[in-house]
Amino acid sequence: MCGIVGYTGDKNCIPILMNGLTSLAYRGYDSAGVAVWEGSDLTLRKAKGKIENLKNLLETSPISGLSGIGHTRWATHGEPSDVNAHPHTDSHKTLAIVHNGIIENYLHIKSMLVKNGCVFVSETDTEVVAQLLGYYYDGDPLETLKKTVPMLEGSFALAILFADEPETIYCTCKDSPMVVGHGKNESIIASDIPAILEYTRDVYFVQDRQIAVLKKNGLAFYDEFGATIEKPVTHIDWDVEAAKKGNYEHFMMKEICEEPDAFRKTFDQYVNKDFTLKSERFPWDKARAKSLKRLTIVSCGTAFHAGMLGKKFIEHMAKLRVDVDIASEYRYGDTLIENGEAFMVISQSGETADTIAALRRAKELGCDTMAVCNVTGSTISREAGHVLYTYAGPEIAVAATKSYLTQIILLYLCALDLAQKRGEMSQVQITDRLKEMSKVPAAMQKVLDNKEQIQYFASRSFAVKHVFFIGRGLDYALAMEAALKLKEISYIHSEAYAAGELKHGTIALIEEGSLVVALATQPDLQAKVASNMEEVRVRGAHVLAVTNGPWDGAAGHSHEQWQIDQMDATLAPLCAIVPMQLLAYYLAVQKGCTVDQPRNLAKSVTVE
Ligand code: M6R
Repeated sequence: MCGIVGYTGDKNCIPILMNGLTSLAYRGYDSAGVAVWEGSDLTLRKAKGKIENLKNLLETSPISGLSGIGHTRWATHGEPSDVNAHPHTDSHKTLAIVHNGIIENYLHIKSMLVKNGCVFVSETDTEVVAQLLGYYYDGDPLETLKKTVPMLEGSFALAILFADEPETIYCTCKDSPMVVGHGKNESIIASDIPAILEYTRDVYFVQDRQIAVLKKNGLAFYDEFGATIEKPVTHIDWDVEAAKKGNYEHFMMKEICEEPDAFRKTFDQYVNKDFTLKSERFPWDKARAKSLKRLTIVSCGTAFHAGMLGKKFIEHMAKLRVDVDIASEYRYGDTLIENGEAFMVISQSGETADTIAALRRAKELGCDTMAVCNVTGSTISREAGHVLYTYAGPEIAVAATKSYLTQIILLYLCALDLAQKRGEMSQVQITDRLKEMSKVPAAMQKVLDNKEQIQYFASRSFAVKHVFFIGRGLDYALAMEAALKLKEISYIHSEAYAAGELKHGTIALIEEGSLVVALATQPDLQAKVASNMEEVRVRGAHVLAVTNGPWDGAAGHSHEQWQIDQMDATLAPLCAIVPMQLLAYYLAVQKGCTVDQPRNLAKSVTVE
């Protein structure tokens, strides 16, 4: 949700800021801007629209300097426009500021400032912070921050350039990520790791209300009271190239193609060479696993869908009840959970505001918390009692693909671990399952090698208005993710339905030309799904069946069939998600959509 970058050092900061903003564009893309110290003044350039517009502006109206801040925006307060774009300054231009998040009490602060003569030019909550800092500024940036930051309510990550100290960047945050790094004669700040990787892999995560001060020669950190603090360094082992698009047209396609590799990396982290689980990497010992009565999983979006599949894996294999909820619902609901209960959050970014709030609530209630997370050092990974990392590497496209895959791999492994510790599966059964699981990446690769089949299907179907993904059991959970993927990047209306539930209402929507994708990878349920396919086929739907190996029964009830390699039914979703992601991708490309940056969305949702 909005991207921040800041630089101070011995180079012209403009190319560095623009490079950083380009790599953060997935966080927000309705306007962008930069502020630099040009030697005598703070100079700003801002442009509505994609970063390309800001680039063009900087070509016609160039600026340069050794320190500066930049921002790519996802509008919350005030429409996307040049004037609402960040950076913002106070009326006297004593400082320039960029901001991620929402200042919840901005109206209250604004009215105080207006009464004291401040004149506002934008509709943003960010300008309120700029004016507030300017109002209290007494020549000492650190003292000003100490005084003003406690007045701010809501979530924020702020990077500030003071005209009196132009070679220093100040930053602070609350419930919004901020990463700081120091290289040779330069320091850099960003709201996400990819923007910093080219300069250093050793980073510091600024925590709530801490203040980071960046100078060319080093970094200093303070707590909210201004006392110096030492911060632990986090080494990021992501490859710089992994955050680049390479020869692919879109990050999303690159990330789908990386899935077999992400699968192996995650699998190898939790499974020994002899196909036994590295059980010490999972949260509970035998006694604790046996004593569990329930696990609650809370997450958002794609990660919520991973939780839905995880529930089915864990209940089926480990015979442990699992409740799954959406974080934005859970955080304000009646939390019927008891001290000591097992609680899991799932998050690619580790920075999703609602998921963080749910985790904090569970901690307050004394739950035994753990997280499935892709980003080392993120808020969720720092705050959860135990972290199961996914090894998807950086995911840049807004649509989650490889992160979802690695989440469901981990949930599958968690289910096996719990099943073993709870005595529901023997070592031999576990090893057999893991051996079979290790073959899934090859099956995924086959889907990828034949992706032209899916592209061809998309070229014939992109005019479709409604798509229904139906399935039973594991396939229903998978259908939820398939439908989200399609709608978020292609803007085609799509819904996921439990196949047996269609007849209770939704079948009324089926008409001539509707596309129904029947996920039918579960042999035990295929006969039932066949009936549901027939129900929609006779009502005019075009039916595509996705099967686990050959299934003759599909022929009469569908117009088209895609097969994945035959595998244990519980493993099938790990492979069947690939054709679903490719289908969404190709339909979006056919429709000319901006695949990596779909409208109205942002990668990391750090506001409520
Ligand atoms: O970073 P998180 O996994 O916590 O993000 C949760 C959702 O915002 C995210 O999965 C979102 O639904 C994706 N854009 C879907 O592709």
